[in-house]
Amino acid sequence: MSARKRVGVLISGRGSNLQALIDACAKADFPAEIVTVISNRPDAYGLERARSAGIPAAVVDHKSYRSREDFDAALHALLEEADVELICNAGFMRLLTEGFTQAWRDCQLNIHPSLLPAFRGLHPHERALEAGVRITGATVHFVRHEMDAGPIILQAAVPVLAGDTAETLAARVLEAEHLIYPRALALVASGRVWVDGEIVRFASDKLALPVFLSAEQDNASASKDLSEEASKISDLLRGKAIKHVSRHRVGEIVIEFDDGTRLFVNVDSSDLDFSITGGEIDN
Ligand code: GRF
Repeated sequence: MSARKRVGVLISGRGSNLQALIDACAKADFPAEIVTVISNRPDAYGLERARSAGIPAAVVDHKSYRSREDFDAALHALLEEADVELICNAGFMRLLTEGFTQAWRDCQLNIHPSLLPAFRGLHPHERALEAGVRITGATVHFVRHEMDAGPIILQAAVPVLAGDTAETLAARVLEAEHLIYPRALALVASGRVWVDGEIVRFASDKLALPVFLSAEQDNASASKDLSEEASKISDLLRGKAIKHVSRHRVGEIVIEFDDGTRLFVNVDSSDLDFSITGGEIDN
């Protein structure tokens, strides 16, 4: 396997997306490794996550710098020092200067909890609810100087449910973020996507499939992939015939057999392949 791409992750807070990337990078065949985590806030919980994973973590406190240019120069120097090839912004709440974004053009990813270009900027969930959209989601994109803008790599669609508050919607979208960020990083790090005229092109059409997260509906393409895994399980279950495969919720599918039994399966889909990691039968 070719060398793993060296990734620097920029954070400002909780770091749950950082954790999703750490978990993905822990797999031997993942095409990237996190070599440094940098926070602009000294109290960011993500720093603890980095340290627990044995990843060097640093603070570049924006309050200690007189200008955005000075802050960005310090950030840039640390990333260069760590020989970083790709940057992932993961809940990084600082606007970067044009010089910085140009220096890392097509080598810097960001995740935003909306279906861009809708609801750029702060409070996307509140604004999605106010606008009455029925579907929102998450986007991973290459960073450009404008906030939450740039060529789109992956998106996940998440339904807005009756009774959603900004908090419940944010939690559901966050699950989608954790699903697509490692996938997008894997695509970029392995060279299977590239930017062509501000549009992301994919090495194969299959890689470009959006992710749909729905409480009620099946995702036809995902179900097809999942059927293969399901048939392996079916073999294990002495050839029970499969009636239906659907997503139960993020990270879990439900397989219904002809005899009425159902198998809930945890799936690991942080990369492009699904693999069965466990499950239980429910009669
Ligand atoms: C995520 O929703 C991310 O998309 C947004 O800020 C949040 C950060 O969460 N930019 P975490 O720090 O990754 O948990």
